[in-house]
Amino acid sequence: MTGRPDDPAPNPHATEAQVQAALADNKLAQVLYHDWEAETYDDKWSISYDERCIAYARGRFDAVAPNAVLPYERALELGCGTGFFLLNLMQSGIAKSGSVTDLSPGMVRVATRNAQRLGLDVDGRVADAETIPYEDETFDLVVGHAVLHHIPDVELALKECLRVLKPGGRFVFAGEPTTIGNRYARRLGQATWKVTTEITKLPFLQGWRRPQEELDESSRAAALEAVVDLHTFDPADLEGMATRAGAVDVHAETEEFAAALWGWPVRTFEAAVPDEKLTWRYRMVMYRAWLGLSWLDENVMRRVVPRQFFYNAMLTGVKPGASGR
Ligand SMILES: C[S@@+](CC[C@H](N)C(=O)[O-])C[C@H]1O[C@@H](n2cnc3c(N)ncnc32)[C@H](O)[C@@H]1O
Repeated sequence: MTGRPDDPAPNPHATEAQVQAALADNKLAQVLYHDWEAETYDDKWSISYDERCIAYARGRFDAVAPNAVLPYERALELGCGTGFFLLNLMQSGIAKSGSVTDLSPGMVRVATRNAQRLGLDVDGRVADAETIPYEDETFDLVVGHAVLHHIPDVELALKECLRVLKPGGRFVFAGEPTTIGNRYARRLGQATWKVTTEITKLPFLQGWRRPQEELDESSRAAALEAVVDLHTFDPADLEGMATRAGAVDVHAETEEFAAALWGWPVRTFEAAVPDEKLTWRYRMVMYRAWLGLSWLDENVMRRVVPRQFFYNAMLTGVKPGASGR
């Protein structure tokens, strides 16, 4: 199942020539990279549609928009990927119906398939966040997770959000890398990848080594990753962009400091070894450790560490007018 019948088809196996062309065309790079990732994305990021991820998605929403009046009638997700944010928010009761959109046809295909499996009232469409293909004042809520940093003109995308929102409607974006957080996360990730892929060359650790062609494909993708990640943000800059776009009640929050310092090496290690080595027990231990460090961040670090040092930024704002939700 894809989005609309006139949407372009996914292209999960880009040729070398296409990758070269993408280096000079950022939107093409976004499509190739995310089409390539789409079918394995949920596994790579341990995304699920059960209590664990429902609570996570809802926690991000409530952290930045605690006073929203729920449920919204119709929600839009930009850069939906496999649907992680909106589908889990809808399962938590945030909106009655929704539209998942993404620049990557492969992602829209997986997101609509996930929505159908969950029995949610959701349609899908290939869409660029800088030119959202919906009429003015269509939605009550616009959400996005880890998408703003891929969009060349973030302020333009925020203006587009406000255009398609009804007066009083709200946008909520989460999962955006802060400038300082991204610096330490990237360094930790690169070091973990190097150590893991080198150490698993040792004969007695061969069972922990992913097949060479998979590692080569990951390295090719990593070259494109450097192209698709366009921005990092200071929370105050995010607030400035939203205000200049025309939003009111603008507010940015940040979270994850100790959790990010620990989580990035863990996630990179998991991507570098065969999936079957990561048992359910291991995953639960890692998840509990992440919960513990998140608690530490929320209850201790938050009081002593400035907000721009945390890894994840969230942003909300409201379209001026009517009901003021
Ligand atoms: C890091 S992924 C996040 C996916 C999902 N929201 C999540 O959190 O799992 C970023 C997504 O943004 C999409 N994207 C990149 N540029 C975009 C644009 N200009 N408009 C809409 N989506 C875009 C990519 O195709 C990709 O699916």
